[in-house]
Amino acid sequence: MKRGRFITFEGGEGCGKSTQIKRLEAFLKEKGIDVIVTREPGGTRLAELIRGLLKDEKDDPPCDRAELLLFLAARAQLVKNVIIPALNSGTWVLSDRFSDSTFAYQGYGRGLDLEVLKIANEFACDSLKPDLTLLLDVPPEIAALRMRKREEETNTSADRIELAGDEFHRKLREGFYALAKAEKDRITTIDASGTQDEVWEAVCKSLKRLI
Ligand SMILES: Nc1ncnc2c1ncn2[C@@H]1O[C@H](COP(=O)(O)OP(=O)(O)OP(=O)(O)O)[C@@H](O)[C@H]1O
Ligand SMILES: [Mg+2]
Repeated sequence: MKRGRFITFEGGEGCGKSTQIKRLEAFLKEKGIDVIVTREPGGTRLAELIRGLLKDEKDDPPCDRAELLLFLAARAQLVKNVIIPALNSGTWVLSDRFSDSTFAYQGYGRGLDLEVLKIANEFACDSLKPDLTLLLDVPPEIAALRMRKREEETNTSADRIELAGDEFHRKLREGFYALAKAEKDRITTIDASGTQDEVWEAVCKSLKRLI
C-alpha cells in the first residue's frame, strides 16, 4: 500500500484556505485518489470540543500558554486517530491549518518561545510533518475585505482570534514568511490576492511534484 500524501494549507484568516481546499478535494477525487479534509483545531469529537473552548470569548479566555496546549492537545488527537491511520491506508489528507499556524500565531504572534514550541509541537504530532505546505499569502487589507464579505454572506461575526488587531496580523504574516524561508522544500508561498481561479492555478502548479 502506497502511503497517502499529507498537504497542509496555511495563511492568515480570509486568505482563501477553505475555498482552495474544497477545490483540491474535488480535483483529487476526480482523479480517483482517496482524500479526507481535516481542519485545525478540530476533526475528532474531542478536538472539536477543544475548538469550541478556544473560540470562546467569555470572561475566562485561555492565557497564551493554555491556548498553545489546547491547540496541541487537539492536534495530538487528530494526528493519532485520523491523520496517521488515513495516510497509512493510502488516503491523502488535506489539512486546513497545521503546525505552521502554531508557530505563526503562538510563536510570532503571541511571542511564546519558538524552541519550546518546536519541541512541544513535535511531541504532539509524533514527529509527523506535511509532505507539502501551501502558504496562501494576501495583504491584510484584502483578507479583511474577504472576511467582511463572508460574515455578511453567512451571517456570522468575527471570533476572539480574528479580532486580535492589525499589529498582530502583521506579525503573523512576518512569521509565516520566516517559516517559509526556513523550509523552502516543504513550504510553497502562493500569492493569493488574485481571483479564485488564479490562486487555484498556482495551487495546481505547486502540486506537480506530488502527483
Ligand atoms: N481569490 C479570492 N478572491 C476573492 N474572494 C475570495 C477568494 N478566495 C476566497 N474568497 C472569499 O473570501 C472569503 C474567505 O475565504 P475562505 O473562507 O476560503 O478563507 P480561509 O482562509 O478559509 O479563512 P479562515 O482562516 O477564516 O477560515 C470567502 O467568502 C470566500 O468566498
Ligand atoms: Mg477557513
